Amino acid sequence: MSISEENLPYKERIVLNSWPNTTSIDSYKAMHSKSISNIEDFWANVAKELEWFKPWDKVLVADPQPPFYKWFVGGRLNASYLAVDRHINTWRKNKLAIIWEGEPVDPSGNPIEVRKLTYYDLYREVNRLAFAIRDKLGLRKGDTVTIYLPMIPELPILMLALARLGVIFSVVFSGFSAQALADRVIDAKSRVVFTADAFWRRGRVIRLKDVVDEALRNAQFVERVVVYRRMNLKDTPMKPGRDIWWDELLSGVPANAYVKPEEVESEHPLYILYTSGTTGKPKGIVHDTGGYMTLLHATMKWVFDVKDTDVYWCTADIGWVTGHSYIVFGPLMEGVTEVMYEGAPDYPAPDRWWRIVERYGVTILYTSPTAIRTFMRYGDDWVKGHDFSTIRIINSVGEPINPEAWRWAWRWLGRESVPFGSTWWMTETGGILISHAPGLALIPMKPGTNGLPLLGVDADVVDDEGRPVQGKRGYLVIKKPWPGMMLTIWGDPNRYIQVYWSRFPDMFYAGDWAIKDEDGYIWVLGRADEVIKVSGHRLGTYEIESALVSHKAVAESAVVGMPDLVKGEVPVAFVVLRAGFSPSKELKAELRNWVREVIGPIAEPAEILFVTKLPKTRSGKIMRRLLKQVLIGQPLGDTTALEDETSIDEARKAYEELSRELMGQR
Ligand code: WTA
Repeated sequence: MSISEENLPYKERIVLNSWPNTTSIDSYKAMHSKSISNIEDFWANVAKELEWFKPWDKVLVADPQPPFYKWFVGGRLNASYLAVDRHINTWRKNKLAIIWEGEPVDPSGNPIEVRKLTYYDLYREVNRLAFAIRDKLGLRKGDTVTIYLPMIPELPILMLALARLGVIFSVVFSGFSAQALADRVIDAKSRVVFTADAFWRRGRVIRLKDVVDEALRNAQFVERVVVYRRMNLKDTPMKPGRDIWWDELLSGVPANAYVKPEEVESEHPLYILYTSGTTGKPKGIVHDTGGYMTLLHATMKWVFDVKDTDVYWCTADIGWVTGHSYIVFGPLMEGVTEVMYEGAPDYPAPDRWWRIVERYGVTILYTSPTAIRTFMRYGDDWVKGHDFSTIRIINSVGEPINPEAWRWAWRWLGRESVPFGSTWWMTETGGILISHAPGLALIPMKPGTNGLPLLGVDADVVDDEGRPVQGKRGYLVIKKPWPGMMLTIWGDPNRYIQVYWSRFPDMFYAGDWAIKDEDGYIWVLGRADEVIKVSGHRLGTYEIESALVSHKAVAESAVVGMPDLVKGEVPVAFVVLRAGFSPSKELKAELRNWVREVIGPIAEPAEILFVTKLPKTRSGKIMRRLLKQVLIGQPLGDTTALEDETSIDEARKAYEELSRELMGQR
């Protein structure tokens, strides 16, 4: 739980006037009750606003049984058609779709590389690439591929080209290591991997292709690797017969190539996206096409209130679900002009983002609490004097937003006058489900809350027995299916049932703690399981433990999330060494680096504490909850299950020693 202000839910309410829709919580609630009393009719009315090649026969089918819900069955459509083709027969044809900025700047701080693509540019690029992928790589509907690309326009272009062909893609965040990439390539059985030679990050050259080569040593079945020349590095190794440059792939493809969009079934998988859970390797969350696009359409309108005059900027990375839904498919389907940025938020200086906002007159900003806290820490001088007057809506996502960060951003970026919400959702839900929704209703905001469930979404907070609770902490659940919900876990449908639908009967278990307040607003407090959020990035403590245990010096480890002022949470590892190894500063550094290499820099433990045993139950389960209490200095609560009390004393001692050491350094 990372919201730092005590006694939430917060009492402060901020009411904005002058909104054409409802401003009354009660009338919103009445709309909401009606919407969930017949979810099929409700969502069918939304889905009608998309263009379908063939209408559906049934709105919702459990096939073969719940929870395997399929939306708009019998309907046919194509996500790439919706995102590009749809606009080119309208006045939007030459409207800007993407304004992209590379990271490098000139001495006066202006970007050296800016690319502007209209919808027609996008249409042509997507078609050419789809043409080459179909004819030269032979990829067809239902094949799987992996994408390991940085934030460059080729990433959305590729995703749209693949969606056009019905090829199922899995995007892997470009900050993940070779091993993490290999795991995902192997699980998805990808025939082709798309990558780039390198990209810029905080002024450094990150060589992606090298990581791919290392990963594919364990995935020999991959037939082709397509490499985009982002940096034009001359020494990029290319394996003959397997590797091909992006430009070579496109060579000879006519500028006006056209590929008819595959008319896929509504439930055809659009993509797989791997995400962390409590146990085992990351799971491949599979999303459909029809339900997913329907939810994105609704939420782009309700939550972002997008209009043709908007300049929209979602600051996420496309490697995560936020980027899939709210950089690629959602905004492009709505025909907005959006900003895309390659690099680090504070490069070359902490006002890089604000210069971008000014340069393009951003009107809608979708960002994260961790980014806001980072800027807060840099101090007001970096925001003072910048022009935020164009911004009319702000939203945040990824973790709970603490009220201080909310107020700071509302004051500076929002000039204390714009709607500013915290959109709750997760990889599994496909899109936003609980959020302030200025496009629907302008009900009072409260700093730190998520707000009411969106229309058509039956979200609630329940106790251990699954009974609704109000005013007290419980578990967040969704009681009815919604479009955009995951189809299954790739290759492991039983795990889908077990992880999400077994905690409470007939309810989707999100794994979050939440409170529903007296107005019915939901406040998501944080994860109720062994998942942590580091700068909004989702990591399983189990994965970090596995990485540590794969090191020769480590016998056992337990990782817990420790609250952090900027990152929300950071991983802290308790480590038991194997015989023959002893604790040292060097070993600590080596282990931290080891985790970086096995998973990626985001997973690196902030601290490593050496102990000789871990607190366990009599049946041998590690009691991470107790370790967390030690870290946050809170009473342990019930310890009756603990087998050996001295393990906790030892953990506490190790932590106290570390704290003293850290104090000494300051
Ligand atoms: C957390 C990110 C509070 C939550 C889209 C959820 C949030 C997990 C919020 C999913 C928010 C996301 N307020 N918590 N506005 N948004 N979360 O799959 O714990 O990376 O379960 O999806 O992030 O993370 P994921």
